[in-house]
Amino acid sequence: MTATSAQFPEFKDRAVLVTGGGSGIGAAIVEGFARQGAKVSFIDIAETAGRALAERLSRETAYSVSFYHADLRDIAAIRRTVDAVVAASGPIRVLVNNAAWDDRHEFDAVTEAYWDNNQAVNLRHVFFASQAVAPSMRSAGGGAIINMSSIAFKLNMGGFPSYAAAKAAVVGLTKSMAGRLGPENIRVNCILPGMVVTERQMQLWLTEESIARSVEQQCLKVALKADAIVGPCLFLASDCAAGMTAQSLIVDGGIL
Ligand SMILES: NC(=O)c1ccc[n+]([C@@H]2O[C@H](COP(=O)([O-])OP(=O)(O)OC[C@H]3O[C@@H](n4cnc5c(N)ncnc54)[C@H](O)[C@@H]3O)[C@@H](O)[C@H]2O)c1
Repeated sequence: MTATSAQFPEFKDRAVLVTGGGSGIGAAIVEGFARQGAKVSFIDIAETAGRALAERLSRETAYSVSFYHADLRDIAAIRRTVDAVVAASGPIRVLVNNAAWDDRHEFDAVTEAYWDNNQAVNLRHVFFASQAVAPSMRSAGGGAIINMSSIAFKLNMGGFPSYAAAKAAVVGLTKSMAGRLGPENIRVNCILPGMVVTERQMQLWLTEESIARSVEQQCLKVALKADAIVGPCLFLASDCAAGMTAQSLIVDGGIL
């Protein structure tokens, strides 16, 4: 059985929005929901990859998968996109705040502008996409928000202080939004992936040796791929997790 073979009938015909769905983990999540029969839309800044994914999945799944080209640092663009998704697909029942940018940055070299841009890519849109989607979840009687954090902020890694701060903040934001939105039957949880081998990670940071070193630290002696995050994400969004909110699910092969 693969991570994505489980079926959750409640997703059929429901509108799902994924940020950063054009590549890596986000693309796997888009595909996972599309294969459940959901009406999936995703936002990404990467136009070519986004269009290619939407075209491929639209041929292969029940509904056409909709790609919205936007920069999540632009809050007005998030609001416009959410309005367009609701107009096209109905109230959004699931939001996956997945987009991020794990650029490395040297402690001594970080400027105010770098910091602000990094927080805008890694944290700010998580709040504003949730705020934009909440009215349609309320109108539908509830919904699920899943935020992507990372175990990286727990590992004392020195190479990305702003990214680590944002990923820690995603956990706090998850818990505060869960408190605020719980009475409206909107559940908010987050996932903390460990090392997940994606194309971008391979191009930029990972080598066969570094992958082997990470796998050595894991209980499970296999390198996780993007699919490993799909099952936990479907679960948190599903009725199976109806009693879960304000929680963090670690998916790291057993490092922590
Ligand atoms: N891959 C890992 O090992 C790993 C580990 C822990 C946590 N995570 C988290 O999982 C999530 C997905 O990671 P990934 O490795 O698949 O990342 P990725 O870089 O492959 O994908 C991120 C996507 O977000 C998009 N994006 C970035 N900035 C954007 C912007 N301003 N506007 C719109 N779209 C934008 C990118 O184009 C890309 O498609 C991220 O939140 C990341 O922090 C990943």
